Amino acid sequence: MNGQDEKQPGMDRRRFLMVSCGATLALVLHRGIAGASGGQAGQAFVESICPQDEKAANRVLIAYASRCGSTGSIAQAMAEALCAKGASAEVRLVQNVKDLSPYQAVIVGSAIRAGKWLSEATAFVKSNQDSLSGLPTAYFVACLTMREDTPENRAKVLAYLDPVRKGAPKITPVAVGLFPGVVDFSKLSFMNKTVLEAKGISEGDYRNLPAVKGWASEVAPAFMAARPRG
Ligand SMILES: Cc1cc2nc3c(=O)[nH]c(=O)nc-3n(C[C@H](O)[C@H](O)[C@H](O)COP(=O)(O)O)c2cc1C
Repeated sequence: MNGQDEKQPGMDRRRFLMVSCGATLALVLHRGIAGASGGQAGQAFVESICPQDEKAANRVLIAYASRCGSTGSIAQAMAEALCAKGASAEVRLVQNVKDLSPYQAVIVGSAIRAGKWLSEATAFVKSNQDSLSGLPTAYFVACLTMREDTPENRAKVLAYLDPVRKGAPKITPVAVGLFPGVVDFSKLSFMNKTVLEAKGISEGDYRNLPAVKGWASEVAPAFMAARPRG
C-alpha cells in the first residue's frame, strides 16, 4: 500500500460521516418543516352529515381546521347535539368548503398552534366574511390552555381570536366556544414534540365532549331561528 492507499479509507470514513450527518439533518429539518406547515401523515379528519339528507332544512355547517384530528371529534360532538335538536349538521374541513349558499348558519373552529387559529381557518373566515356576516356564525377554539377553565385562561384564549376578528370585522359571532383539546405525541412531528416537551407540556386527552354538546345545544336556537337562504 502506498501513502495514497492508506489515506483513502480515512477520507471515505469522513465523507461517509459528512453524508450521514447531512442526511440526518435534512430528515430532521424536513420533518420539522412538514410538521410546522401542515398536517401529519396518517391522521384521520372527520367529515360527516346528519341526518343523511343533503336537502334537509336547517342546514348548519361546522367547518374546522386541525393538524392531528382531535378538533374534528369536537366538531362531530357539536353536529350530534345540533342533530338532536332537529338541525341538519355537516362537519367539513375548512379547506373542503367551497360554497356557503346551502347553509343557514355556520360554526367555524380551529385547533391552536402558537397562540393562533390555524391559518386555513382564519383565511376561510376572511375570504367568506361577506357571506358569514349575513348568517348566524359562531366560532370555537380547541387548545391546551383550556384544560384549566379559569377566567385568566378564558381571556388568554379569547385573545387567540384577535387576528380573526381583525381580519373579518364585519362578523359578530353569536357565540364563541372555548374547549380543551388533545396532545398526542405520537401524532406530532419531531420538532413540535420537542418544542412541547421543552415547555414541560405532557400529552393528554383533555376533551370534554359533554360540555361541547351542551354549548352546541345552547347555540342551536339562534341557528334554527335563522331564515334559510333563498
Ligand atoms: C406545536 C403546537 C403548538 C401549540 N400551541 C398552543 C398554544 O399556543 N396554546 C394552546 O392553548 N394550545 C396550543 N397547542 C395545543 C393544541 O391546540 C391542542 O393540542 C389541540 O387540541 C390540537 O388539535 P388537533 O388534534 O385538531 O390538531 C399546541 C399544540 C402543538 C402541537
